[in-house]
Amino acid sequence: MDSSELKSIIQGIPKAELHLHIEGSFEPELMFEIAHRNNIALDYDSVESLKKAYQFNNLQEFLDIYYTGAQVLLHEKDFFDLTWAYLTKVHRQNVVHVEVFFDPQTHTDRGVAFEVVINGIHRALEKAKEELNISYQLIMSYLRHLSEEAAFETLESSLPFKDWIDGVGLDSSEMGNPPSKFAKVFQASASHGYKLVAHAGEEGPAAYIWEALDLLKVVRIDHGNRCLDDAALVQRIVEQNIPLTLCPLSNVALKVIQKMEEHPVAKMLDKGILATIHSDDPAYFGGYMNENYYETAKALNLTKDQLMQLSINAFEASWLSPEVKEKHIAQVKDYFRASSK
Ligand code: ADE
Ligand code: ZN
Repeated sequence: MDSSELKSIIQGIPKAELHLHIEGSFEPELMFEIAHRNNIALDYDSVESLKKAYQFNNLQEFLDIYYTGAQVLLHEKDFFDLTWAYLTKVHRQNVVHVEVFFDPQTHTDRGVAFEVVINGIHRALEKAKEELNISYQLIMSYLRHLSEEAAFETLESSLPFKDWIDGVGLDSSEMGNPPSKFAKVFQASASHGYKLVAHAGEEGPAAYIWEALDLLKVVRIDHGNRCLDDAALVQRIVEQNIPLTLCPLSNVALKVIQKMEEHPVAKMLDKGILATIHSDDPAYFGGYMNENYYETAKALNLTKDQLMQLSINAFEASWLSPEVKEKHIAQVKDYFRASSK
């Protein structure tokens, strides 16, 4: 397959995005525009100089810049514009379902009310459902570098909006902040009806994936790369069909792997893991869904069957109803059948 054929196949696949931090979709151009209208000075004098700073050696170096960028978001319209920009972008990439993370504490700790954040995000998601036919779920992430007590306060603030929130996640600095630190707040979140996911095994060890499964009782693992260090864990993940939401361009940008050719996704598919591909923080890592599929497929020489499997897996791993999942999976199969003629 040459690169233009590969790009065109990927463009046409109906796709589901299950691992996307809305704050990580904040493109520099929009950041400057919102900073300007909110009278906030950025540390960089142009879009180009900001983009030059996007060179990371690890997760923490990225997070420092990511949290700084989010500081220009103040008003409901800012959160709406951020979310709408992401949704229109991925609509053009034929993404038909999204499960979006937001980090309330990044904003509430700066004095921005929870309701301001969620009103803006929710309004954009609803507009996309109506106008772009994109279905969605919304996931509130607890920041793991903060305390469990702070996560409990966030849980409390979310309750008036619980009909708008489908699940909770766990993100931010992984090393030294194991899932076990959040066992009680995850249990409490489940008691309010939230579904559970957690980032684990991105930089942290396989032991953190065990903890996320056994102590937090998550239904999906975000990243999970390090499961391959532990054969018993792989067996568990395969037997229980636990999805791993992988983010290849993120892994290269944060040096979780040294180069795309080393990405474990093909190995994971071979082992029978329900692996999926997503974009994590596309504005920072060089690409959205299509670019993640393309760079991975190119580096690993993925076959059309593997691309189809990845696309099906994402719907399988989603929180859509069984009937809607089936409909999307049938469309993916039809698409590949037609494209191989
Ligand atoms: N927050 C945003 N992106 C993240 C990532 N890749 N890992 C942990 N926390 C994050
Ligand atoms: Zn992530």
